[in-house]
Amino acid sequence: MRAVTWTGINQLSVEDVPEPQLLNDHDVILKVTRTTTCGSDLHLLSGYIPFMRAGDVIGHEFMGEVVEVGKGVRDRRVGDRVVVASFVSCGACWYCHHELYSLCDNSNPNPGITEGLWGQAIGGCLGYSHAVGGYAGSHAEYMRVPFADVGSFVVPDGVPDDRALFASDAASTAFTGVDLAGVQPGDTVAVWGAGAVGQMAARLSSIVGAERVFVVDRFPERLAQARTHAGAETIDYTTTDVAAELREHTGGRGPDVCIEAVGMEAHSPGPQGAYDAVKQQLRLQTDRPSAVREAIMACRKGGSVFTLGVFAAMVDKFPLGAVMNKGLTLRGAQVHGPRYIPRLLELMDRGELVTEHLATHVLPLEEAPRGYELFKEKADGCVRAVFTPHG
Ligand SMILES: NC(=O)c1ccc[n+]([C@@H]2O[C@H](COP(=O)([O-])OP(=O)(O)OC[C@H]3O[C@@H](n4cnc5c(N)ncnc54)[C@H](O)[C@@H]3O)[C@@H](O)[C@H]2O)c1
Ligand SMILES: [Zn+2]
Ligand SMILES: [Zn+2]
Repeated sequence: MRAVTWTGINQLSVEDVPEPQLLNDHDVILKVTRTTTCGSDLHLLSGYIPFMRAGDVIGHEFMGEVVEVGKGVRDRRVGDRVVVASFVSCGACWYCHHELYSLCDNSNPNPGITEGLWGQAIGGCLGYSHAVGGYAGSHAEYMRVPFADVGSFVVPDGVPDDRALFASDAASTAFTGVDLAGVQPGDTVAVWGAGAVGQMAARLSSIVGAERVFVVDRFPERLAQARTHAGAETIDYTTTDVAAELREHTGGRGPDVCIEAVGMEAHSPGPQGAYDAVKQQLRLQTDRPSAVREAIMACRKGGSVFTLGVFAAMVDKFPLGAVMNKGLTLRGAQVHGPRYIPRLLELMDRGELVTEHLATHVLPLEEAPRGYELFKEKADGCVRAVFTPHG
């Protein structure tokens, strides 16, 4: 079958690879109908998560049709149209019982790497390097889905593919942030990053009752989507002092909740951006944290800052003094998909959450390298490139 493989830094190819097999009784095999690029894949491509091997199949945000079912699977049937959580969760460990699904203790067969980096291993993630399990990803015609009863969800008939698809990772990530950051009715929320994750965080903040939502980015077409589809007010960080503008809109206080949806490759126009880029290139820090720093400085005293953007390890010039002295709550998480996907599918079915506008480029799998180029450069208004392995 055809699949998109990582062959080196900034190199992808579309190749023939062996078809997946049922390896465990709790697996299903999925015919992948739609699979999309995610900002997280860019960190793999740029080599900032150095645990890829040439030939690994990438992709972790996807949906499809069940074509084979392991004999231990209870709830899935051949022919089911499902969307699948990006992280793999066993459903039975302490973390899964506490709905902290991306922290599953049983789904990462290579725990040593993340144990060394972070003190404890996190769960496995599909198509996302050997640090989180070395699972084959979804940019392929077929895909093995482990623990299918926990991680796959039947899509209601009325929900179109380009809506259901984003429940897999972008929208469930955003819901993880909005929920665990503690967005309350009446809050003012600011979101850094107007990619699919940031836009969903803005929309879901409104859905849970935020009164005002701001989205910060520099790409006009992404900011326009945030205004049109999330009802957000927008700020171009290249033309203004973001923290000052947010204070101005909030009676001098700053937002109650700041959600960072940018991650380790943040762009920064000033000298601090150049400093971060050089230190990252020299491996003196692994991540460029400009948006997190700005969120911490902008947040109101006693507020909450949440990082949804992916970071690998160490950052420099981190304003811990602001966190401590302003009494901030600082949190982050990888997506707890199964905790939010059922609610997202309900919101999608009722038409309260729409995502079709994010799929700006729908392409055959063979064109994935071009899709990633557009997505990486944010060229031609690309917000997400979606691949259709079966046409
Ligand atoms: N926590 C999770 O489970 C999870 C899941 C999915 C994605 N992510 C992460 O979320 C982040 C966003 O993902 P995406 O798919 O939306 O990516 P994306 O690349 O489409 O969007 C990132 C956006 O951030 C903007 N940006 C860059 N520097 C900025 C700055 N200094 N201030 C404000 N905006 C800035 C970019 O212009 C871009 O529009 C990535 O880091 C990704 O790895 C995390
Ligand atoms: Zn992702
Ligand atoms: Zn588990």
